[in-house]
Amino acid sequence: MWILIVVLVGFVHVAFAAVYLYLTWYHKYWTKRGLVTAKPLTLLGSYPGLFGGGSSFIADLGTIYNKYKGKHRAVGTFLTREPQILVLDPQLAHEVLVTNFGDYRDTLTSSYVTHSQDYDKYAARNPFFSAGDEWKKRRTDGGAGLTPNKLRQAYAIWEQTGLKLMDYMKRSIEERSTNVIETRDLSYRYTAQAMGDFIWGIDAGSLSGGVNEVSQFQRFSYDWVSRAFSGITRFNRTPIAPVVKRLFRMRFFTQESNEFYLKLTREAAKLRQSGSGAERNDYLSHLLQLQEKGASYDDMVGHALTVLMDGFETSAAVLYHFLYTLGEYQEEQEKLRTEILDALAGDKNISYEQLNALPYLDQCMHESMRLTSVIGFLTKICTKRTTINLGDGKILNVEPGITVTIPAYNLHHDEANFPEPEKFKPERFDNGAASEYTKRGCLLAFGDGPRICLGMRVGLLNVKMAVLRILAEYRVEQTKKLSIGSDSGLGIYLNGDVDLRYTKV
Ligand code: HEM
Repeated sequence: MWILIVVLVGFVHVAFAAVYLYLTWYHKYWTKRGLVTAKPLTLLGSYPGLFGGGSSFIADLGTIYNKYKGKHRAVGTFLTREPQILVLDPQLAHEVLVTNFGDYRDTLTSSYVTHSQDYDKYAARNPFFSAGDEWKKRRTDGGAGLTPNKLRQAYAIWEQTGLKLMDYMKRSIEERSTNVIETRDLSYRYTAQAMGDFIWGIDAGSLSGGVNEVSQFQRFSYDWVSRAFSGITRFNRTPIAPVVKRLFRMRFFTQESNEFYLKLTREAAKLRQSGSGAERNDYLSHLLQLQEKGASYDDMVGHALTVLMDGFETSAAVLYHFLYTLGEYQEEQEKLRTEILDALAGDKNISYEQLNALPYLDQCMHESMRLTSVIGFLTKICTKRTTINLGDGKILNVEPGITVTIPAYNLHHDEANFPEPEKFKPERFDNGAASEYTKRGCLLAFGDGPRICLGMRVGLLNVKMAVLRILAEYRVEQTKKLSIGSDSGLGIYLNGDVDLRYTKV
């Protein structure tokens, strides 16, 4: 009996020792190479919040950033057991994204679909999840439908969606007998309507339907995109045992959503080819041009979902954070309204060029995105052996495959980059200063370099049109303060219902 107990205890010790060794095997990786390592490390690496326990990946990122910033250009971290580099110096962020882009061409997300190219085929076709030459081709093909010229031709879609938004708000206020509107829902309604129209030429029914009725397109798209973004957290845990990705056939998009959007794309294409809406210049017309050059339906759906993902979700998130912030900063809101009303004086219309050229609107938008960064960090992968100058004569060798994380949210909230970082101060970006901040690596709301946001112009157009129409008619006020928390995917989000009061001006 005693022998059995001794053997069992011995076995348990050996098993624990093996697990411990496995989890901490690389934890000396950076010390050996002369890079300061973020401590304390746990068995789960530098980001235990990935596994819950009251913290989150983004919160852990902030803790490390605040501890080491100003002292080092970069610090070694571990995503579970995988060695990574966390950038602390904005200039180094610029080097990784722009100057030395050739050494960091891929993103961590592109490594998350290498095992699932056949069944997660639409995620794999999104440049955000693509690597190497495939990335370049997809970016070029998809981006050709989002040029300023293409958007100018499709601009009527946003003009009409802006007016539908006004109509929906009016009906909502009248039918519900309150001028408080939950603005997260409102923003998703607006972007669903705009993207349904732009990508497939359909009426998504999210603004044109009944008040509070949720259309099938809106509900489906919301479920699809929430699952896809939360997938990033699920995948970030996998370095602990990479085999689980294959074992559980992990994926971002479900089979059901693949079928839904394939059917939608086929039907929309057939309708257009039959002559309906033939005069329209929208993303569907771009997809049909790609088809003539040999693109398959799968390629078309891949491009369509690339636009939907951020045209619907990220744009809506930026919009409701922006309106919430304006709801607090009344003076800035009033100044913005004056600019908008001046621009709309006359026939109440505004051209694509004029909308983009409103200086204060642009400043407010950048400042809002700095303040509430819905994409809180960027992750690049070293694709060619390279070096990082750590200062004080120290040079770090970086091997291919190493991930470099750029903590955009923390750079945006560092008072070394932005004095009084928690305040909304659009004048920071007077005289086009936003691009200067981006060049210095401090402002990365859209990223930078060859992998800068592919849909930046669509995102700006989505949000600016909605803010323009809303502010021209309503004063926006907060009804309660909301806390900020990290979502389950990429960013920092407002918690709870975004109930804002809209009073006719
Ligand atoms: C205001 C809304 C938006 C914000 C704040 C935003 C932000 C970003 C950021 C920060 C990145 C860089 C990610 C990285 O470097 O890892 C990015 C990349 C990307 N965005 Fe956006 N985005 C927005 C709207 C859009 C829209 C409307 C589209 C679709 C047309 C889009 C498509 C993409 C794609 C495909 C990438 C990956 C680019 C690549 O790796 O080459 N985004 N976005």
